[in-house]
Amino acid sequence: MERRTIGAAALEVGAIGLGCMPMSWGYTESQRSLDSSLQAVHTALDRGCSLLDTADMYGPFTNELLVGRVLKERRADAFVSTKCGLLVGEQHIVANGRPGYVKRACDASLRRLQTDRIDLYQLHRADPEVPIEETWGAMAELVAAGKVRSLGLCAVGARAVRPARTARTERRPAGAGRRRSRMHDGTLAQLERIQQVFPVSSVQAELSVWSPEALEALLPWCESRGVGFLAAMPLGNGYLTGTLTPGQGFEREDIRARHPRFTAEMMAANQPVVAGLRRVGARYGATPGQVALAWALAQGRHVVPVPGTKKERWAAQNAKAVDLTLTREDLAEIAALPPARGSWY
Ligand SMILES: NC(=O)c1ccc[n+]([C@@H]2O[C@H](COP(=O)([O-])OP(=O)(O)OC[C@H]3O[C@@H](n4cnc5c(N)ncnc54)[C@H](OP(=O)(O)O)[C@@H]3O)[C@@H](O)[C@H]2O)c1
Repeated sequence: MERRTIGAAALEVGAIGLGCMPMSWGYTESQRSLDSSLQAVHTALDRGCSLLDTADMYGPFTNELLVGRVLKERRADAFVSTKCGLLVGEQHIVANGRPGYVKRACDASLRRLQTDRIDLYQLHRADPEVPIEETWGAMAELVAAGKVRSLGLCAVGARAVRPARTARTERRPAGAGRRRSRMHDGTLAQLERIQQVFPVSSVQAELSVWSPEALEALLPWCESRGVGFLAAMPLGNGYLTGTLTPGQGFEREDIRARHPRFTAEMMAANQPVVAGLRRVGARYGATPGQVALAWALAQGRHVVPVPGTKKERWAAQNAKAVDLTLTREDLAEIAALPPARGSWY
């Protein structure tokens, strides 16, 4: 598989990674199986998708344990990126960016991942109660200690994230914590601040055909600074693969059960987006999902999409998207598709 370089430390990874989250978190629980998830990870590695993206929060903890089982056998084939700074509380997901906590979280992740070094350690969310320089400084100390090779920042929407200390008592004003549609200016300011402390190797944020907001400022910022960009949710939480049916239900724990784009009405309204991807794919014998991944790859040599799946056949199909190079005309056709309807923000 084509290789891409991430960030200041010039770490090389396969151009497409594997998002391991659906194996333990966020999606249809009834379809989860440890054996098939392990098989999906092995298949991704076999195809050159070396970047395995996980987080201590997924599960919580079980996703890192799963990835650790694979790393124990084939550490040299993998580039492991995990995350700290979010905890699953009793009622809410809470942020904790205190330096002592971050260091303990890293040690725990190393144990679960059965490795002595994390390739990319990402701050899952900034803690509004801790200056980000303090959190990032603690993460930089982990690099100095040889526990981590490089650092990244996640800039996915901060829905329902609260500081750990106030999680169960605080009442928030309506709308607080929601991501704005022109949303990355706050992130850019944070990135400039933490760059003064220790080089940022990657930014991870949502980027897909139906959520292209990161193209406005975040991607150009990364490109101009030599920072890698991990495209999260590049398949639009599965919608862009064209395998979901408008009106189909989602299990209670599935993030899509509460996602405004996954109501029957919005799933029907956004069909032209999938139809457009299908049309482009038909010219190459590619699926809509493969076109969506090829589109993400085409946004810059610093972009590494991390499609999530727990299924071996989909991991294989997603890896093959690296062979699809979209032409300027294809990209123009995709850019002309109607903007997606329905939003969290
Ligand atoms: N930093 C953050 O805060 C953050 C937030 C969200 C995501 N992420 C990372 O980004 C990764 C990707 O995001 P995501 O997993 O939420 O969304 P995604 O990659 O856009 O979509 C995942 C969904 O697509 C389905 N799928 C995958 N490949 C498919 C194929 N070839 N055909 C049909 N369906 C397919 C999966 O089904 P199955 O589950 O049934 O396989 C899953 O339901 C995550 O795994 C995680 O590592 C990070």
